[in-house]
Formats: sequence, structure tokens, C-alpha cells
Amino acid sequence: MPLFTILTLFPDALEAYLDVGVVGTALHKGLLDVHCVDFRDWTRDRHRTVDDRPFGGGPGMVLKPEPVVECVEWLEAKYGTHRRLVLDPAGRPFRQADAEALANEPRTLLMCGRYEGFDARIYAELDLEPVSIGDFVLAGGELAALTIVEATARLVPGVLGDARSAVEDSFADGETVDHEHYTRPRVWRGREVPDVLLQGDHQRIAAWRAAQAAERTKARGDADRATPSKPGRNP
Ligand code: ADE
Repeated sequence: MPLFTILTLFPDALEAYLDVGVVGTALHKGLLDVHCVDFRDWTRDRHRTVDDRPFGGGPGMVLKPEPVVECVEWLEAKYGTHRRLVLDPAGRPFRQADAEALANEPRTLLMCGRYEGFDARIYAELDLEPVSIGDFVLAGGELAALTIVEATARLVPGVLGDARSAVEDSFADGETVDHEHYTRPRVWRGREVPDVLLQGDHQRIAAWRAAQAAERTKARGDADRATPSKPGRNP
């Protein structure tokens, strides 16, 4: 069973989300385990200080090395060594293939920074893999860590009711997005379900869905290329 250990200053906020939906079910069924650890508990001063001003000046605060690294050393001594990821907008993009890899990893550490992030020496000392969930900046790594846990949990065998859900989803092959889905009523506010889905010809349905997925994948790529990466600088 994969174990995620999440290092965070806000364990209570994470626990609430982890308890619901697919992840909550996986935890209750014993198919996944998640520990949230507050590295503030590894501080030694009266004020439980986790951050300090940046050398060289500038805005914001930086997370100090001592409590973070001592916390990781403690938890690895207790639970075993982990694959060590740090949530960081400067990291490499996290993709579906990474979620598939983590579903087969016995233990993964997800380190959530706040403020300006972790002292750079923590990355070197712990040999961290920085990963990003997109080209935007969150206030901390917590939502990114939850994103990774959820993307991984649904790939653990037995978590989804129907295993086909994960195989047929968007990005299951690394690039193609899913086709559209329809349910009853057949006509709703004048909008009709495509005829091919109502005729029971499974070969035609499969062909229609594959063509639709290809079309949607292309449209998504076109829209991405047409989106200015900087406002007002579209060539
Ligand atoms: N922390 C802040 N922003 C982030 C992002 N986009 N991805 C991962 N971690 C982050």
C-alpha cells in the first residue's frame, strides 16, 4: 500500500480534505496511507520559529533548515526511506505518468513550503525532486500536495469502482484527453445526445469516441498555443 508523508505547517487543513471522496475511501479501505506531519514540532525555541529573513535582503521569509531536516530524518527512521518530492512552482511539471509512478512507490514524501519557500540547502541535503502542478504561484505547497495524492490515489488498484475509469481517462496514454460523456434525459433544453450513442453499435460508438477524443486533444493544443504566455505579448 503506498504511503504519502506530507510535511506541512497546516496538517488540520489537509486532514479535512483527505477524509472525503476517492482519497477518503482509499484511506478507509486501507488501499492508501497518508500521514501529515507538522515540522514546527521539530523547532527547539520558545516561539517555535520555522522561518527567518533571507540573506541578501528582499521580501518574505525563508524556511529554516534545522527543523525541516530533523523532522525528515526522524520520520524516515520511523517509517523508512521515501522518494522525496518538494512542491515548487520552479520544479518540473507533474504529469499523469508521474502519478502512475507514485502509485507503485511504497513511500513518498511531499514537502510543502510557505512564504518564499525552503532554504536551498534543504534541497541539497535531502536530495529533493522539485515538482510543480502548473505555471502559477500558490501561497504554499499544500494544494499541490493534495493534487498529487488525489491523482495517484485513483490509480491504485481497487480504489476506483470500475478499473476502466482510470484506463480510459484523459492523459491515460500521456497526451489524449477524454471524449464527452452523456446521460439521461436524451433531450434536455433542446440539446440532444449524439445519435450514435443511442444505437447500441459498440464499434461505431468506440470509433466516434476515439475521433472525438482526437479532435478535443487537437483543439486543446491549438487553444494552448493561442494563449498569450504574458498578457499583451501575443506574437
Ligand atoms: N507552490 C506554490 N506554487 C506551486 C505550484 N504551482 N506547484 C507546486 N507547488 C507550488
